[in-house]
Amino acid sequence: MVNNGFFVFSFFSFFLLLSMSTFYGATEGDRKVYIVYMGSLPEGEYSASSSHQTMLQEVVDASSVENIMVRSYKRSFNGFAAKLTDNERQKLASVKGVVSVFPSTTLQLHTTRSWDFIGLGDSAKRNPSVESDVIIGVLDTGIWPESESFSDEGFGPAPKKWKGACKGGRNFTCNKKVIGARFYSSLEGANGTAIDEDGHGTHTASTAAGNKVKDANLFGVGQGTARGGVPSSRIAVYKVCSSTGCQAADILAGFDDAIADGVDLLSISIGGEAVNFTQDPIAIGSFHAMAKGILTLNSAGNSGPFLGSTGSVSPWMLSVAASTTDRLFIDRVVLGNGTAIVGAAINGFTQNGKKYPLVIGAQVSSDCPPPGDLTCSGACLNSSLVKGKIVLCEQPTGDIAAHRAGATGSVIENSLLSFVVSLPATSVTSSDYDSIIDYMDSTKSPQAEILKTEIIKDSDAPSLALFSSRGPNTILPEILKPDISAPGVDILAAFSPIAPLTADVEDKRHVKFNILSGTSMACPHAAGVAAYVKTFNPTWSPSAIKSAIMTTAFPMNETKTTDAEFAYGSGHVNPIKAVNPGLVYDAFEEDYIRMLCSAGYNEEMLRLVTGDNSTCPKASSKASPKDLNYPSMSSKVSLGKPFTINFHRTVTNVGLPNSTYKAQVFSSSEVGIEVVPEVLSFESKNEKKSFDVTVTGKGVTVTTIFSGSLVWSDGVHSVRSPVAVIATT
Ligand SMILES: *[C@@H]1O[C@H](CO)[C@@H](O)[C@H](O)[C@H]1NC(C)=O
Ligand SMILES: *[C@@H]1O[C@H](CO)[C@@H](O)[C@H](O)[C@H]1NC(C)=O
Ligand SMILES: *[C@@H]1O[C@H](CO)[C@@H](O)[C@H](O)[C@H]1NC(C)=O
Ligand SMILES: *[C@@H]1O[C@H](CO)[C@@H](O)[C@H](O)[C@H]1NC(C)=O
Ligand SMILES: *[C@@H]1O[C@H](CO)[C@@H](O)[C@H](O)[C@H]1NC(C)=O
Ligand SMILES: *[C@@H]1O[C@H](CO)[C@@H](O)[C@H](O)[C@H]1NC(C)=O
Ligand SMILES: *[C@@H]1O[C@H](CO)[C@@H](O)[C@H](O)[C@H]1NC(C)=O
Ligand SMILES: *[C@@H]1O[C@H](CO)[C@@H](O)[C@H](O)[C@H]1NC(C)=O
Repeated sequence: MVNNGFFVFSFFSFFLLLSMSTFYGATEGDRKVYIVYMGSLPEGEYSASSSHQTMLQEVVDASSVENIMVRSYKRSFNGFAAKLTDNERQKLASVKGVVSVFPSTTLQLHTTRSWDFIGLGDSAKRNPSVESDVIIGVLDTGIWPESESFSDEGFGPAPKKWKGACKGGRNFTCNKKVIGARFYSSLEGANGTAIDEDGHGTHTASTAAGNKVKDANLFGVGQGTARGGVPSSRIAVYKVCSSTGCQAADILAGFDDAIADGVDLLSISIGGEAVNFTQDPIAIGSFHAMAKGILTLNSAGNSGPFLGSTGSVSPWMLSVAASTTDRLFIDRVVLGNGTAIVGAAINGFTQNGKKYPLVIGAQVSSDCPPPGDLTCSGACLNSSLVKGKIVLCEQPTGDIAAHRAGATGSVIENSLLSFVVSLPATSVTSSDYDSIIDYMDSTKSPQAEILKTEIIKDSDAPSLALFSSRGPNTILPEILKPDISAPGVDILAAFSPIAPLTADVEDKRHVKFNILSGTSMACPHAAGVAAYVKTFNPTWSPSAIKSAIMTTAFPMNETKTTDAEFAYGSGHVNPIKAVNPGLVYDAFEEDYIRMLCSAGYNEEMLRLVTGDNSTCPKASSKASPKDLNYPSMSSKVSLGKPFTINFHRTVTNVGLPNSTYKAQVFSSSEVGIEVVPEVLSFESKNEKKSFDVTVTGKGVTVTTIFSGSLVWSDGVHSVRSPVAVIATT
């Protein structure tokens, strides 16, 4: 599938990612956009819009609230977004019925081989009529509905349960595949459109549910059949982002509508830094979705490989890390002495066997002090000196500067990922970069040719992408995050032909398919898998679907990835197995409420998330969040101290009525894992059995990850849960 999204790694979004930590409320004068969250909708007759207007009018020092109200949430939960002064914000926070007021921060957007690689091949068993009743909601940058990936040829009318609408705005037409569209940009107003001007939303939607399209490729690179995980499913589009990011107020509006419209699943390749659930629009929106039986899938983020970098932390959604597939995109540069160096870039250009002179940025710059000259930054390069040459630059955007200056090609130091480039260019490791400079020093007229991108087989796959954000969960350390990994590197999927292809403003090329990398691309893969599982198990709860995906995942090889489970969660998605997991770890709204209470949320704080009159059960003060019936087991322990951790779990039999499961544990010699009882016997379907897991270990003095697992096996099914403990400060 094609990737393009807010957790996408292209040169373009590289900039978005760099600015990811800058969170701000959208400002206008001294007013900022705040979300006034009022929780669940009250029962019975209630006119949300007018009561929101009245509430606002009462605190605002202005004659009319027309330009101050941004939007009302009134379909799936209650609240509104408005432009408030600090004084008004404080007043509103104390109004009865308001559960919280928080700033509308800006969040960021974070194929074809990929589905075969994870085992969901063209010939996989499918349930087409059920699949065509599955509606995947995508909160993103909109969609290009005219893409072949979204043609409605062969589709019947929208499923009967669909309550949504086609309100895609300017120039937007729905069809029987893209059955609904809405847009929310606070900036565009009524003249807005759900048409994708960025490309990310088209890429993610087609990855999850795009039709099969033959001969998809980007300039001949990555040629193959593009297809989504569930090609017969329908898509509902909620445009909550533009190329510059996604406002929290718009994200919540997307949830409000999508839940009420009747989507089955939500795929959200958007995120920011981890924040408390009470201030996290994706945590709040997905809580309401879960309460209505809708699973939300969310990208883990592209801020890896640093511990604690994931912003996707709530236990009621599935958080997705990005991994490689066996299709590795490489781009070689051949030096004048015949040596070929393997770099990375999505380079559709060919130099036709001709070699060009190699120059270092500093040798062809004018008026630029170091290090600008070496990095080719700004307007350092002198056009008359770079013309007809391949320029070496020490930074990721050097190729854009080289292109602007009129160079023939560029070699960039470092970047480990393939980006689409706007001239013949490749990026190489620092040591390869140095050896190119050695070669230049060894000859009077150094030259090279940059070849077009090629694909080689990567027998190391799947391995986790370095950029994929890591746990542990900084908000709730007892819940392992991310949950799962899915393909997110060099993914070919549909693209918006009006979107810019690269960050290079002089790159006027437009494409129907694009190759992107990011956890943005991994998330819709997992959404496609969740939809596939749902077609075989239509009555399952969000947590049962999530459990099935997690407990059947392929274990990843920890020697190939830093941070083990805190990088890839339960492992790599395995769609065929996920359909029939044997046992599931189920959890419902009341379980999450108990978990929040045990994490120290008092009732007032609890209601900030649930938005209703939920109360904490009495026993919850003695409980621990790690007792949430989660399909993985994790904990954070202090350095220097030995530890003993208990996990209580309950599994539900969804496999054969009469079955006996035996526990097997795997761990290094440093940790002990004990399971009581070690045998679970079931006599009927949906029967539940509980057990306890005790994990013990010795104190360590440096940050250490202890990895292990518990597998329940009946000879047919293997139900695997990772057990991951991190000892850290
Ligand atoms: C809207 O569609 C018309 C007809 O296809 C096209 O000419 C026009 O350029 C489109 N406008 C925008 C803003 O996309
Ligand atoms: C709506 O947007 C289009 C495209 O940006 C523009 O051409 C048109 O003038 C706008 N219309 C209004 C009423 O603002
Ligand atoms: C660029 O290089 C040429 C040739 O050396 C030189 O004549 C010219 O002054 C330089 N341009 C700038 C802006 O320095
Ligand atoms: C080409 O030059 C590089 C750098 O000096 C060197 O490592 C490589 O061995 C040379 N290749 C040949 C074929 O001489
Ligand atoms: C999150 O908010 C709750 C309620 O205000 C508070 O109890 C908890 O300490 C906060 N957690 C973090 C990690 O800030
Ligand atoms: C994990 O990878 C290492 C290094 O490539 C290899 O030696 C080992 O056999 C692998 N383990 C498994 C279980 O595949
Ligand atoms: C919560 O309880 C109060 C007082 O009983 C009631 O007025 C309010 O409508 C309830 N809210 C919800 C969301 O049920
Ligand atoms: C399960 O096993 C019990 C006891 O052996 C037997 O009575 C029952 O019929 C079996 N049920 C099924 C569905 O096989």
